[in-house]
Amino acid sequence: MADTETNEAEAPKKKKAAEPVDETPSRLVHLKIRRQDAADKPDSKRWEEFKVPYLPNMNVISALQQVQKYPKTTDGKAVAPVVWEAVCLEEVCGACSMVINGRVRQACSTLVDTIAPNGETITIEPMTKFPLVRDLIVDRTRMFENLKKVKAWIDLDGTHELGAGPRESQEQQEERYPLSRCMTCGCCLEACPQVNDSSKFIGPAAINQVRLFNLHPSGAMHKNQRLDALMTDGGIADCGKAQNCVEVCPKEIPLVDSISVVARETTKRLLFGWLLK
Ligand code: SF4
Ligand code: SF4
Ligand code: FES
Repeated sequence: MADTETNEAEAPKKKKAAEPVDETPSRLVHLKIRRQDAADKPDSKRWEEFKVPYLPNMNVISALQQVQKYPKTTDGKAVAPVVWEAVCLEEVCGACSMVINGRVRQACSTLVDTIAPNGETITIEPMTKFPLVRDLIVDRTRMFENLKKVKAWIDLDGTHELGAGPRESQEQQEERYPLSRCMTCGCCLEACPQVNDSSKFIGPAAINQVRLFNLHPSGAMHKNQRLDALMTDGGIADCGKAQNCVEVCPKEIPLVDSISVVARETTKRLLFGWLLK
């Protein structure tokens, strides 16, 4: 304590204030970005590298914003600004999924200090399991089409007063809440080996939605329709149980549990469904 006080007392405060301000950023963030000008221009696929000023607590989106402000590569070439998608900036909308340093994740919640603490190069690529639009933007329509296939909603036609909704037990609410946090970001599809050009696999996010809606007292009215949708080509039987999906889900949704629960339900329906017809 005494030492600290001595050091503070000895600090040459006046001299420091008189020193010229150094505007050169003390640290630069090195980005290597995969680019492509348009879906129909595969020949424009390339890597470009940028160095941007480091800001405390910056995330990958802030680094991309710096590139957008000064789109000049490390070898001094002026280029078109890099484009990407992001909306909420707080890991809610699911729009900013990218492959960062080889792992799919949200650019808004990926901190530069965490992935490149010593100034390592950060590689940024678009997801590969979705059609490319441009640079880091992909088309996630497939995710939303999958939700339609499994009827991931509860039908309310609005023609009459429904009154208070059915009551759910505390236990059921606790089971359903984690499942409801899916933001259709696509990370689980990107990581799943069963989702590829030669497969129609619907993917774990839609399977999880079937569990979510079938657990709801009103949603259960269409339980069998949802299960039937998963018993067709590209349905739950295509899951190889590699568990990559659960590893990358930013919302920590228990996807493998959901797959097991729904697989049991589809098996029951397959074996005993005729009894219920
Ligand atoms: S368990 Fe494996 S195969 Fe099944 S959805 Fe997840 S990543 Fe894909
Ligand atoms: S289940 Fe997780 S990884 Fe998959 S789309 Fe939903 S939030 Fe994203
Ligand atoms: S910007 Fe919405 S999840 Fe990243």
